[in-house]
Amino acid sequence: MRSSSIVLAALAGLASSQQTNETWVDTGDTLRLSTDTTFHFQLLNLLGMATYRGADVAEVLGAAQVIVPGNFSSYNNTFAELATRKQAQASVAKNKVNARDTFFQAAAYWRDADFFNHGNQSDPIIDEYWTNQLECFTAANSALPVPGEYVTIPTASNFSAIGIFYAADSDTSTEKPTLLVGNGYDASQEDSYHSSCVAALERGWNCMTYEGPGQPTVRRQQKIGFISEWEKVVTPVVDYLANRTDVDMDRLALSGISFGGYLAARAAAFEPRIKALLLNPGVVTVQDGFLGQLPSQFQDLFHSGNKSAFDAIVLAIVSNSSMPSSLRWGIEHGLWAFDTESPSEFLVTTGAMNMTGLFDRLTMPIWLANGTRDDVLSQSLDFVEQVGNTTNVTLVTFDGPEGYHCQPGAASSTNREMFEWLETVFE
Ligand SMILES: *[C@@H]1O[C@H](CO)[C@@H](O)[C@H](O)[C@H]1NC(C)=O
Ligand SMILES: *[C@@H]1O[C@H](CO)[C@@H](O)[C@H](O)[C@H]1NC(C)=O
Ligand SMILES: *[C@@H]1O[C@H](CO)[C@@H](O)[C@H](O)[C@H]1NC(C)=O
Ligand SMILES: *[C@@H]1O[C@H](CO)[C@@H](O)[C@H](O)[C@H]1NC(C)=O
Ligand SMILES: *[C@@H]1O[C@H](CO)[C@@H](O)[C@H](O)[C@H]1NC(C)=O
Ligand SMILES: *[C@@H]1O[C@H](CO)[C@@H](O)[C@H](O)[C@H]1NC(C)=O
Ligand SMILES: *[C@@H]1O[C@H](CO)[C@@H](O)[C@H](O)[C@H]1NC(C)=O
Ligand SMILES: *[C@@H]1O[C@H](CO)[C@@H](O)[C@H](O)[C@H]1NC(C)=O
Ligand SMILES: *[C@@H]1O[C@H](CO)[C@@H](O)[C@H](O)[C@H]1NC(C)=O
Ligand SMILES: *[C@@H]1O[C@H](CO)[C@@H](O)[C@H](O)[C@H]1NC(C)=O
Ligand SMILES: *[C@@H]1O[C@H](CO)[C@@H](O)[C@H](O)[C@H]1NC(C)=O
Ligand SMILES: *[C@@H]1O[C@H](CO)[C@@H](O)[C@H](O)[C@H]1NC(C)=O
Repeated sequence: MRSSSIVLAALAGLASSQQTNETWVDTGDTLRLSTDTTFHFQLLNLLGMATYRGADVAEVLGAAQVIVPGNFSSYNNTFAELATRKQAQASVAKNKVNARDTFFQAAAYWRDADFFNHGNQSDPIIDEYWTNQLECFTAANSALPVPGEYVTIPTASNFSAIGIFYAADSDTSTEKPTLLVGNGYDASQEDSYHSSCVAALERGWNCMTYEGPGQPTVRRQQKIGFISEWEKVVTPVVDYLANRTDVDMDRLALSGISFGGYLAARAAAFEPRIKALLLNPGVVTVQDGFLGQLPSQFQDLFHSGNKSAFDAIVLAIVSNSSMPSSLRWGIEHGLWAFDTESPSEFLVTTGAMNMTGLFDRLTMPIWLANGTRDDVLSQSLDFVEQVGNTTNVTLVTFDGPEGYHCQPGAASSTNREMFEWLETVFE
């Protein structure tokens, strides 16, 4: 009982730190797109996708103007309206490039409409928005000069991996370097097309995106949550790539974005066919990263093992709109993605998501991003220390307005750094 009153006091502290402070200015930061830090991050990320055909600037700024900080319905409704309008414009476009660009934007806006919308796991809107985004993205893809090939890849486990292979060109008899991209906790393979594949294709690389359990389309279509043994996803995908006549297996790189920094490193430890590994950022233990988002009183309660007390208090945060959006969203989305209603069960599962004992197995060169403003999952420095001298490690620091987790709004800087490094590794 005593521990739960300490936790309640911590809850009150969280509410008063809700970052909806109109006068809050952080020098070196970007212009704020919302006084809600989490909305700002998400909007900046989407705005940045304008560089890679995933958004239009004025529309995103227009949405930012009307979205009410802390109000998930407002975020949802604003983007659903925008997506509906875009999809209608795309549907009547006769010019192929018009259709492509407009469907890509509509798909991105449907994904943003969905983003803060996983609180009620039985709400059919979770699937309805996603069906729209898949339809729009598929329509855009089919208007690309070389459309991506959709594949479903059976695995030895109780799920299939899914992927989209974007060939650098239509010459299937020449082997080319290939970037395999996996996202993390929340983003989809459609996001990866914009954040990574457009840049790869422009540089003459093939690019393949994929998803496994817990990730947006696999979670919905196969009803399966995240697993820790990510090689069970990646190895079958690498088997698929090895079978293609246009993939140079000596120049195969795996990129892991966000929580994908754990997933990719874990898979690479069991998959020597990966010849270069990019981690944005490096992740050593997922559970510590997630628990670190909670006040220390919550961490103590979790470690005390009183699951019912922990669950009750964490669920009280989720349903309380005066709590920070980062926590409400992080927990809501985690429960959905790990396919559980229990916060303690979700966090217990993350306990197996660590690189302990696996560093020695990473023999390929590794690139890591170090965001100086990354307060989400930034364990790159620890990762570098632990991987030691088993392989050649390159750490790139992103600072100032580029310093957020995964560099939202700075994807062209990220791609510049990644491809400068990749081309040295594979030259
Ligand atoms: C767990 O916490 C609840 C609420 O604080 C308390 O009533 C219960 O006795 C605790 N259970 C154990 C096994 O400590
Ligand atoms: C939300 O949290 C605040 C701060 O702890 C608290 O004052 C308020 O009563 C909570 N609201 C609900 C509905 O629990
Ligand atoms: C808002 O931020 C300003 C500047 O950092 C600070 O002085 C002020 O106390 C904050 N207000 C609240 C309500 O947190
Ligand atoms: C988002 O909007 C849809 C459609 O209005 C609604 O069904 C859903 O419950 C909303 N979700 C949230 C979190 O407001
Ligand atoms: C949140 O936004 C929705 C729609 O955008 C609105 O209907 C609702 O009143 C808002 N809620 C609060 C508490 O402001
Ligand atoms: C969740 O969504 C279902 C289906 O729309 C609805 O029946 C239920 O009332 C919702 N639950 C809550 C807590 O809003
Ligand atoms: C898939 O298998 C895992 C164990 O490997 C099990 O925990 C899980 O419930 C299974 N899921 C489905 C949807 O069959
Ligand atoms: C590789 O190609 C062969 C021949 O087309 C096919 O039978 C096999 O299933 C493929 N294997 C994988 C892993 O894609
Ligand atoms: C790391 O994960 C393994 C299972 O993959 C687990 O047995 C071990 O306890 C975890 N170690 C730490 C330090 O969390
Ligand atoms: C990495 O970022 C941290 C801040 O998160 C900074 O203190 C550190 O100097 C950076 N490391 C390098 C090697 O640039
Ligand atoms: C790597 O580090 C280990 C332990 O610190 C040391 O024994 C070994 O000689 C080092 N290897 C190289 C190639 O530097
Ligand atoms: C490590 O990688 C960098 C960048 O690819 C390269 O310049 C350097 O020569 C490599 N060092 C070793 C020891 O392989």
